[in-house]
Amino acid sequence: MITGKFPSLRLRRTRKFTWSRRLVQENNLSTNDFIYPIFLIEGKNNKQAIKSMPDIYKYTIDKLGALVDKAIKNKIPMIALFPSTPKKKKDYHGNEALNENNLVCKAIRFIKKRFKNDIGIMCDVALDPYTSHGHDGLLKNDYVLNDKTIEVLKKQSLLQVQMGCDVIAPSDMMDGRIGKIRKFLDKYGYHDVQLLSYAVKYASNFYGPFRDAIGSKKSLTSNKKNYQMDFTNSNESMREVALDIKEGADMVMVKPGMPYLDIIRTIKDNFKIPVLAYQVSGEYSLIKNGIKNKLINEDAVIESLMCFKRAGASAIVSYFAIDIAKKL
Ligand code: PBG
Repeated sequence: MITGKFPSLRLRRTRKFTWSRRLVQENNLSTNDFIYPIFLIEGKNNKQAIKSMPDIYKYTIDKLGALVDKAIKNKIPMIALFPSTPKKKKDYHGNEALNENNLVCKAIRFIKKRFKNDIGIMCDVALDPYTSHGHDGLLKNDYVLNDKTIEVLKKQSLLQVQMGCDVIAPSDMMDGRIGKIRKFLDKYGYHDVQLLSYAVKYASNFYGPFRDAIGSKKSLTSNKKNYQMDFTNSNESMREVALDIKEGADMVMVKPGMPYLDIIRTIKDNFKIPVLAYQVSGEYSLIKNGIKNKLINEDAVIESLMCFKRAGASAIVSYFAIDIAKKL
């Protein structure tokens, strides 16, 4: 593999000028690489700051026109919608997930009517934005029930698809849900809906600001370790991906992002399926606060995103998406 030796070999030669560094550059970022997450709140003509995520806001639906327009103008291929459900609409079973007038459903209809297929819409499938306990599924004795939860997730998926959602992204980590959702959507004639499985989602400490944003942080009394993956494990992630591909996933997600580049690379090498990375809220806020406090400079953002491409990711969910797309 390594050929040549010093002094005939000097790797600094191609690093000497900008033009030659450009020539040998191995990876690139483009606007095509981004998925832009949007937080939703009820109300009118309002945007609300999120304390733990500097410069990120929650928007009322009437504000989405301008925001989505900005994403399209910056050539971002897809947005992801996340609702911040008012507390009074949350309950033990997360019933609001199946309300066709919930925030996500309304937002999908609004965006699809206005922008048709100019941009893709991806929606999470999980109950955490809707449950009073903040877990992704139905709870019994502090344990999230697998098969019973899937029955709800099937309905949540179908509803979102009926509203116009393009990409269904189960982020709940129940066993077998991809196959069950795929079958259910097929039964209703939605053969072409894409399934993006959060196949490898770790029980991570980097989700804090997101949970704060959707209001599940305070309600969550325990952790999610009995369904999300143990971050000490790597082989297990391959089993998760293999299962989800068999069950009908079109793409898989690895989450969080930067601490899990080894996982992205291993999946890419083993499965040749589109792998997406989620640069999660904790990663965002750490980098953003670092920049705000002048500990690191702004180019750290590009560096953090480029490493996903280097690891083999096809695209990246990132709260920096619009800012970076503007620069590219
Ligand atoms: C929940 C969900 C989470 C995120 C996306 N979907 C958090 C969790 O599992 O608790 C985290 C995203 C982020 O931190 O940016 N299904």
